[in-house]
Amino acid sequence: MLHDLNLTNVRCFESLALRLAPGFNFFLGPNGEGKTSVLEAACILLRLQSQRSSSLAPAIKLGAKSLAITGGYDGHLLEFRYGGLRRKLQLDGTEQRSATEYLRLARVVSFANTDIEMVRGSSEARRRYLDFIGVQVDPRYRPTLRAYERALRSRNALLKSAPPRLRELAAYNLPLVEHGAILGKMRANIVVELAPFVAAAHAEISDSKENADIVFSSGNEENYADHLARTREQETRLRQTIVGPHRDDLDLQVDGMEAQAYASEGQQRTLALALKIAQARLFQEYGPPPLLLIDDIFGELDQVRRRQLLGSLPRDSQKLVTSTTRQWDESLEGPVFELRNGEMFTPK
Ligand SMILES: Nc1ncnc2c1ncn2[C@@H]1O[C@H](COP(=O)(O)OP(=O)(O)O)[C@@H](O)[C@H]1O
Ligand SMILES: [Mg+2]
Repeated sequence: MLHDLNLTNVRCFESLALRLAPGFNFFLGPNGEGKTSVLEAACILLRLQSQRSSSLAPAIKLGAKSLAITGGYDGHLLEFRYGGLRRKLQLDGTEQRSATEYLRLARVVSFANTDIEMVRGSSEARRRYLDFIGVQVDPRYRPTLRAYERALRSRNALLKSAPPRLRELAAYNLPLVEHGAILGKMRANIVVELAPFVAAAHAEISDSKENADIVFSSGNEENYADHLARTREQETRLRQTIVGPHRDDLDLQVDGMEAQAYASEGQQRTLALALKIAQARLFQEYGPPPLLLIDDIFGELDQVRRRQLLGSLPRDSQKLVTSTTRQWDESLEGPVFELRNGEMFTPK
């Protein structure tokens, strides 16, 4: 579990320190008081990335040059500092040049209102979902994703330059295909592992007897190198790389129908929830129960759904829950941190 959390210059907080409990921890307060920011700080500390934005820069308090987040997790001291271009990691007082060891400690699942974007939004939201899982279950995922993105950026820059520097392009085909093929395989494997968890979670939380299924849709053919070579003309015309994992997608189906187009909003929300519950359950196979960040979604659910959600989450997981009102069940026990007028009132 995350024992404590200390923020310096994170979002609206100049300085904040809190001690957390195992099980439920509630953050209660009106909008804009910093509830999501506290959850974000926990996510950044444990996973070195934010659950709400792809860059960490917006998390630095306006006017400050850098942020610091520290905390204890399962007896280890984690320290993270970030100032625009530089980041510094310490694990138990020792500076870490590589994040591998550090990231092995904890896993995080984030539940938020915006999760519905996974169902009705663009494929980018679904790739982000897969990537957030991938980096937490396979240490090779992050470097592979980075290497692929680097090759893709370089390649696209060459295609966009005027005139396109086609002869230099070939130099990037090799890394693109090499890392892209591994990335595609890792994503496909994750989807295979996830699918039964999604189906089970969906069955538990949907009133009707609908079947949910997820299928990986690759952005390139089996023989990536060959496929890439065949799109060369199109690439030159459109001035970008056409095939590859940056076009991967996750097909989401309810009773065999494409959820994005055919599911009702309620069905889409249920499916989004099932995807996240599945993620939490999958993580349990890889280590200790994940930390669950549950941001403002209780308000959206009726009491029955709330119970179903709570019942289907890993029991042993520590949970940070935000809400604008006290609407969780009386039976749920845990400290309530109240945020008001820029201050946090910690429970006695
Ligand atoms: N980088 C930043 N520097 C200073 N304030 C910020 C920064 N980013 C966001 N904020 C402010 O932090 C406040 C808290 O945001 P948030 O955590 O989303 O609140 P909540 O989840 O309680 O609605 C907001 O009022 C927002 O304007
Ligand atoms: Mg919020």
